[in-house]
This record gives sequence, structure tokens and C-alpha cells, in this order.
Amino acid sequence: MATQTLLPGFALLQPPSLKRCIVSDARLPTNTTTRFHRVHRWFNFIAGFSPEFVHQRCELATLDADSTLLDPFAGCGTSLVVAAERGLSAVGYDPHPIFNRICSAKLPSSDAFGVIQETVEILLKGFDRPVSRSVLTDSQSMFLTKLYPLDILEALLGAREGLLASNLAVSDTAFLMLSRIVDRCSHSQTDGIYKAPTSKKQMVSPIFACAEVANMMLEDLASLDGVDLQQRGKIIRQSSRSMEQVATESVSIIVTSPPYLNNFDYAEMTRMLLYFWGIASSWGDITEKVRRSLIVNTTTALKGQKPLQQVYRNNISELVHEELDELVSTLGERKKDKNGKKDYDFLIYPYFSQMTDVLREAYRVLREGAPIHIVVADAALYGVHISTPQLLQSSMQDIGFRKLKCELMRERGHRWTLAKREGSPLGLGEYHLHGVK
Ligand SMILES: C[S@@+](CC[C@H](N)C(=O)[O-])C[C@H]1O[C@@H](n2cnc3c(N)ncnc32)[C@H](O)[C@@H]1O
Repeated sequence: MATQTLLPGFALLQPPSLKRCIVSDARLPTNTTTRFHRVHRWFNFIAGFSPEFVHQRCELATLDADSTLLDPFAGCGTSLVVAAERGLSAVGYDPHPIFNRICSAKLPSSDAFGVIQETVEILLKGFDRPVSRSVLTDSQSMFLTKLYPLDILEALLGAREGLLASNLAVSDTAFLMLSRIVDRCSHSQTDGIYKAPTSKKQMVSPIFACAEVANMMLEDLASLDGVDLQQRGKIIRQSSRSMEQVATESVSIIVTSPPYLNNFDYAEMTRMLLYFWGIASSWGDITEKVRRSLIVNTTTALKGQKPLQQVYRNNISELVHEELDELVSTLGERKKDKNGKKDYDFLIYPYFSQMTDVLREAYRVLREGAPIHIVVADAALYGVHISTPQLLQSSMQDIGFRKLKCELMRERGHRWTLAKREGSPLGLGEYHLHGVK
């Protein structure tokens, strides 16, 4: 793949994908180019970074067919798919029951053609055998009926039942296909923070969505020309706070993006699919089954965390204790001043402690001299600025990482500094934090 600089801030990339993409630096940490790339486009993940970013990082590293890329926060698999396409081995972690399966499906084996065709047959039959919404729990029903007309929801449930009763019940490819159809058939925005029913988007019929997703996947598989991405990439469904499946000094490059502080609640943003698939039956169930295994990054994830504050603090590098202690104290004061309900002061130690666990593991598994690339943003809580990238940089220095640098990739603009979000007057941004072992 050639990387040629055109204008400052722009690169012409020729990834092995459907189209050439001219990508500004500011788009590298975003998912806005995903739709131009085969396989990546199967499931658009608003929190994902661009395939171009991963290609660039691989291009600039010394890698060969024996090299392994690791992504400790794999999400929907951007890094893993790029690595596998480039002929590297790839391993990722994500305990989220939806993202994990989507990521796995994006690493298709060579028999995926047949699975897609079989899935289409099962789904089409299922649409014709609607299942009453009475199979849903109250929480599931209340939520899902806001997103779909009843006849569409019952047709989709028919497809779900058909699939779960078939030999493809455990197929990640079939899971991705129906998940994508479920998204396309909703009249509400469903890919980010939940906005329904006020934000509308164009919905399509289940049959149309099914044809659309199947054709796209078949076209992409054909362009892979028999390359088996499943043989090269693997996603592990557990928290990367412990990565015991990966041998010490076995990884040649890490490219990753963790949950940002006070940004997405990854459990909430998938509520539609968690309820549709019956993975969770209520808000409390989502906390138990999903939130609990994820990095604590939002106040919705604080259940059970408050008594552990000191334990978390003790696990964090002393280099950042003073700064974090001051932040915790200021946030506690702000909460009182504002009669606030948000326990932001309880978020700081868990977040940085859990991130420290992952970074220590990242250091252990990297080969000597191998690079790590992290895309991460700063945050503003009750108007208090938290320099997450710089704080993580100091923690990494303490762990032993060398040549550390933190560079602004893009400003995140006014959306993030709305009064409602209690933004600090400083603009927020996404940063590229990188170094070597
Ligand atoms: C910013 S997203 C990563 C997106 C990814 N780069 C992509 O392009 O698809 C962060 C991901 O971290 C995952 N995550 C949260 N806590 C985790 C943990 N403890 N271990 C591994 N993954 C975790 C979330 O489920 C989410 O998918």
C-alpha cells in the first residue's frame, strides 16, 4: 500500500479495499470512511476509528507475516480486519456481547458465502412468520416499540426465532446480518447515543434490508478472493485488564482506542440489540451482563464502585496521584456547589486504575522496541478539564514505555462544550498517544 502526501494534513491512501480514499488527518480517528471499505462497512460503529489510521500505523512499522497486531479494545474490529487483510496475525479483546460477535463476523472464513445464503433463506421465511411482541419483557417491549412500527418489529422477531431455531443460531455471520437489518428497519437513529423517538431516519423494509446486507457481504467476500480472515484474526470475549492468552513479548504492534472518560456508555448505546436478541431483559440486567465487564467510563457504570476508590487509587502510578487527587477533590466540590447528581468524583480512580491494568498488560505482551498507538480524548466533567491523554502518558512512562508523544488529531468542537454537558472553556480533542516498549 502506498502512502503519498498530497497536501499538508492529507494523505492519499490505497488500502486494499473498494475505493481509494483521500483522508484528512482530522478524519483518521473517526469512522467516517468505514463505508468505503470492504468488510469494515458491514457494521458501522460510531465509536470506531478509520481503517486508514490502522493502515498508516502498520505501514510505518517494521512488520512481516510473522507479526501480530493486538487491539485491547477491539470494538467492531477495525484494527483486526486491517491487520488480517495485510497478512498479519491479529488478536483483540472486547467483552461486549454485541461488539464481540460483530467483530468475529468481520473476520469471515472462506465458507461465509454459504452461511450468508443460508441465513437469507431463514430470515425471509421468518419475516413471513411474525412473532407477537408478547414474547418480550416489559422493558424490551416498551423500548423496541418506540423504534419500529409493530408489524415490522413482529416480522423481525419472526426472523430472530427462525434463526435461533436453526443450525445457524450460533453463527456470528448470521448474527451480524440480522443485527444490521434490525438497525436499517428502525425509523430512529440507533447507532450512537440513543436518540429515539425524536430523531428520525429513513427506514427500509426487512426484505429490502436483507437483500442489501447480503449483497454487500457477498460482494466483499468475492473481492477478498478466497482470503480467510478468520485464520488470521481472533477476538477474545473478556476484559483486556488481563490478557493471559497472549504470550509475553509476542506482539509487534498495538493499535487501539479505549473508552473515553464520560463519553459513550457502550452498554446503553447497544440497548436496542441487547433487548432485541434477548441478551438483557431490563436496565439492571444490562448493568449486570454488560457494563460490569467494561472499563468504568461513565457515571451509569458506578454501581458497586464507590467502596473501591482507595483500592483503585493504590493501583495507579504515583506520578499522577497529585493531579488525580486534586481532580477528585474539585469534582466533589463542584457536585456540592451545583447540587449535582453526577458522581464524577467517583469516576476518576476506577477509570485510570483500570486503564493502568490494560497498559501494564500491553507492555508485557509487546516485543522490545515495538510500537503502541492509542487514540484517546480528554474530557470535561462539571466544567473541570481532565487531560486523559497526558495522564495516561505519565502512567505509561512509569510502566516503562519509551519515546512517548501525545499529538492532537482533531478538535471535537462545540458539541462537546455545550453548557448542558458542563464543558470546560478549553476545547476538547482526540489525541494520538504513542510510544514504544
Ligand atoms: C472506542 S471503542 C473501540 C472501537 C474500535 N477501535 C473500532 O474501530 O471498532 C472502545 C471499545 O472498548 C470496549 N471495552 C470497554 N471496556 C473494555 C475492556 N475492559 N476490555 C476490552 N474492551 C473493552 C468497548 O466495548 C468498545 O467496543
